[in-house]
Amino acid sequence: MEFKEQLKKYQQMINNELEKYTRKEQVPEKTLNESMQYSLMAGGKRLRPILVVATYQIFKQDIENCMPYAIALEMIHNFSLIHDDLPGIDNDDFRHGKPTNHKQFNEATAILAGDGLLNNAYIVISEDIQKQAKKIEKAEETKKQEYIEELSRKVKVFNEFTKAVDRMIAGEYVDTEYEGKQIAEEYLEYMHKNKTGALLKLSVRMGAILANCTKSELEKLSIYAEKIGLAFQIKDDILSEEGDEKILGKPVGNDKELKKCTYVSKYGLDEAKQILEKITKEAIENLEEYGEKAEFLRQLALYIKNRNK
Ligand code: IPE
Ligand code: IPE
Ligand code: MG
Ligand code: MG
Repeated sequence: MEFKEQLKKYQQMINNELEKYTRKEQVPEKTLNESMQYSLMAGGKRLRPILVVATYQIFKQDIENCMPYAIALEMIHNFSLIHDDLPGIDNDDFRHGKPTNHKQFNEATAILAGDGLLNNAYIVISEDIQKQAKKIEKAEETKKQEYIEELSRKVKVFNEFTKAVDRMIAGEYVDTEYEGKQIAEEYLEYMHKNKTGALLKLSVRMGAILANCTKSELEKLSIYAEKIGLAFQIKDDILSEEGDEKILGKPVGNDKELKKCTYVSKYGLDEAKQILEKITKEAIENLEEYGEKAEFLRQLALYIKNRNK
């Protein structure tokens, strides 16, 4: 299957899965639920959950096993976007070609919608872990050990999940602190690796760990993930400089306006592009041993570099 076609298929699969979490009850907080839904279904590329599933599929095919984790990650991502757009952070009015959450609803709702998505992610994961514990209780003796090992991988992934969210928040903080200031090279890299890289690295690691890959496989895949994580944010910086607002669905020139520290402000557009080329190439090199099985991940690294939205 061609990459673009496969990407679309994955996107549809994730969207269908996310739809299952819609809350439609007539409750006093109905508007809050709608605002969470509004951002979650606004048209994101779904790269993080896709990375979870595509990495899992290098090793195993029963993808329902990793789905709750992929969904939880997309919830966290959307929480981060809602808060990132708030007046107190980036103060942006458009995302996914639509008014940002606080513009469509109001600031209080947007703050709480972000909080809600953050916590819903933890609900989704804890439900799956509880389900696994029940599965162990009911299992025949011959199956017990296998299920216990599965549980232990899920707990490991959950632990990494909580830490990656912590890193994303730290990166967002550094981003706001350095607005309008000079930033050292290593701090800029630190900021990007945390605010964006942490969740992308987590995506790959979750897929790999849940699929029970070996330690050395996990190490290689983590390097790939770190590289595409950094590449992703460098490209985001480039698009904020020279993207097409209509395609991008979010403002262009906003980094400059807020005097954000980015790879473009630090190195200039040409050098930022050279760094992006180099990192993408290095990311792909780490997939060598998987041959055909990692073709999607290879193409995804190129897509991240070449994307215009
Ligand atoms: C945008 O992420 C925010 C960054 C971390 C740079 P995405 O480009 O993945 O957001 P979607 O596709 O709109 O969800
Ligand atoms: C967003 O970074 C990173 C997170 C939300 C964690 P940016 O502020 O650079 O991304 P966009 O350009 O608003 O999507
Ligand atoms: Mg920001
Ligand atoms: Mg922003």
